[in-house]
Amino acid sequence: MPDYTQIVLLCRPGFEKECAGEIMDYASELAFPAYIQARPDTGYVLLIGTGEPNIAGLISQLDFKQLIFTRQWFASLAKINDLPEQNRIAPLIDAIKSLEQKFNDIELAYPDTNEGKSLSRFCKQFKPHLLAALKKQKLLSPHSGQRLHLLFLDSQQVFVGVAPIENSAQIAMGIPRLRMPSSAPSRSTLKLEEAIHWFIDNESRYFKSGMTAVDLGAAPGGWSWQLVQRGLLVTAIDNGPMETKLMQSGMVEHYKTDAFTYRPKKTIDWLVCDMAERPSLVSKLIAKWFIREDCRNAIFNLKLPMKKRLQEVNECLGLIHRQLDEANIPHQIQAKQLYHDREEITACIITT
Ligand SMILES: C[S@@+](CC[C@H](N)C(=O)[O-])C[C@H]1O[C@@H](n2cnc3c(N)ncnc32)[C@H](O)[C@@H]1O
Repeated sequence: MPDYTQIVLLCRPGFEKECAGEIMDYASELAFPAYIQARPDTGYVLLIGTGEPNIAGLISQLDFKQLIFTRQWFASLAKINDLPEQNRIAPLIDAIKSLEQKFNDIELAYPDTNEGKSLSRFCKQFKPHLLAALKKQKLLSPHSGQRLHLLFLDSQQVFVGVAPIENSAQIAMGIPRLRMPSSAPSRSTLKLEEAIHWFIDNESRYFKSGMTAVDLGAAPGGWSWQLVQRGLLVTAIDNGPMETKLMQSGMVEHYKTDAFTYRPKKTIDWLVCDMAERPSLVSKLIAKWFIREDCRNAIFNLKLPMKKRLQEVNECLGLIHRQLDEANIPHQIQAKQLYHDREEITACIITT
């Protein structure tokens, strides 16, 4: 195995500090000597290893799903800075060979910035040529558990690296291609759809026809719509109006009341919450629902403050975790800044 020098992490542009802070915390906790190289609004972060154990080991020791602000990651050798305009394949194949691996899959990526997105066409057109060259060099194998990663910063600068397929994002750059359903009441609907895909492995077990849900801050109904599509009976709480067509489904009951005081009569299967409220207040509210046995599972988002965003996230999730532990409620809590999240993250708690 070669000595990888760094881990490359992709994130939402503007959240490099949070992505860096989070991976650095894990590197320190797991005793990987490293430092960060990151610039604001670039959409990626480098964690550079400085000794033993080799930094690539962090990718096998840390569950990718634990990372909130990282969309994709891979271990890499140094960056290529001067890829020629003509015959890019030869130097790339040399770099790829130095990884000393075979690959099951390849991902050609670019940062999620305006500049980065201009490389989308180039990556699409270049991929078949690279695949053909890899095949010729016998560098592809269906038995390999590794994916080859190329992150282009422009047509000359590229990071080349590798990630285990099972412990990285399964979708390119961690960005799901979801289509806005024409009958959904709001674009917010995509947040809940992405959250369900990301957090729930066995959707048909957790979302069954006839289950019950409460949607706090529901109007106009994009999240309720997702639940109704899955056959759930929804109680929508919001002082604002719900979309008429969704209400005509007969699956949604709407109460114009305050989400902080509403309580269901019986335990419900799913609590969902998409309110623009202080994250600490939302966290306390969610914990209260579990402690009072008002819900079994929850998906909610936490709007992030302007400053100390990682600290706020850790405090909010820590509070919920602690309170549920104190109440002896076995639970799993996961969080992610989803592609459809802006200044927010989404969290999911499962107890069943
Ligand atoms: C971002 S919108 C929700 C969008 C919704 N999830 C969708 O997909 O259409 C936030 C909603 O939270 C509601 N809200 C904020 N604070 C609330 C509270 N204390 N009680 C009830 N609703 C509240 C607002 O009225 C607003 O409609």
